[in-house]
Amino acid sequence: MCLLKSSIFAVQASSKASQDDQLGSRVSVAHSDILAIEEQSRLIGSVIWKRVEQLQKHSMRGLIRSVIDNTWLYYWLRSLRNRLLAGPRTKGGASRGSLPSPPEVIKQNTVREYASRYGLRTLVETGTYLGDMVEASRGFFERIYTIELSQELAARATKRFTGATNVQVLQGDSGEVVADLVKLLHEPALFWLDAHYSAGITAKGEVDTPILKELSAILAGAPNHILLIDDARCFGSDPAYPTIEEVTRLVRACQPHRHLVVENDIIRITPEIGAV
Ligand SMILES: C[S@@+](CC[C@H](N)C(=O)[O-])C[C@H]1O[C@@H](n2cnc3c(N)ncnc32)[C@H](O)[C@@H]1O
Repeated sequence: MCLLKSSIFAVQASSKASQDDQLGSRVSVAHSDILAIEEQSRLIGSVIWKRVEQLQKHSMRGLIRSVIDNTWLYYWLRSLRNRLLAGPRTKGGASRGSLPSPPEVIKQNTVREYASRYGLRTLVETGTYLGDMVEASRGFFERIYTIELSQELAARATKRFTGATNVQVLQGDSGEVVADLVKLLHEPALFWLDAHYSAGITAKGEVDTPILKELSAILAGAPNHILLIDDARCFGSDPAYPTIEEVTRLVRACQPHRHLVVENDIIRITPEIGAV
């Protein structure tokens, strides 16, 4: 009985020793796990800290900008911001004139409509800004020349239309550049005259709008170009712009048989009477 008791005790003692061993090894495994977790936390912590330092250095705005700069999203956000800053339906900066401008899509459709009505394959735009008119028109013309005074905007448009072989961005004052360009045109072209200072990032030449210089240069050339002048509401209401009468006088002095009509904020100058 006593022997039995002692052997039971021996078995219990040996099983306790083996439990202690297992517990000891479990404790040492748990300890090494904790060390590994601590090491991983340190690594994660240092990665997060480096990122925070990077964000502080470049700022969140710069980081976002570097990701989306010169993508369609960038231009869309930019034109949305400008539209919001400019007030209702005005592109390229601050609102001008007393009336709001019609939506840009109406203007883009008018350009296409006139191109198809007169069978025109060349578009000349003055005032590129972000290139939205070019983007909307480039599938409809064989050649597009767009003239922008701002070096920065011209460089951006050049980048935006890299690969669009029918688009040429010309940097300079459209009053002068257009005079050289008309001499190179071998067929009637559609002119979208939209160069003007418009606050924000837009450029300003000698005058707010080079429209009279542009008209003189274009009308001194071939008699069959079609001219569309944007922002008709500003002519006569904004002191920086000539009146519609002044424009009409200049047009008739250069080409007496021209027809001129205003519709949807666009002055439309066509070769024949009653064409619109
Ligand atoms: C209203 S934005 C043009 C918008 C563009 N045509 C469109 O439909 O998206 C006017 C642009 O004309 C440019 N500009 C101002 N004066 C100019 C000049 N003398 N020659 C060429 N561009 C000029 C401005 O920098 C601005 O980008």
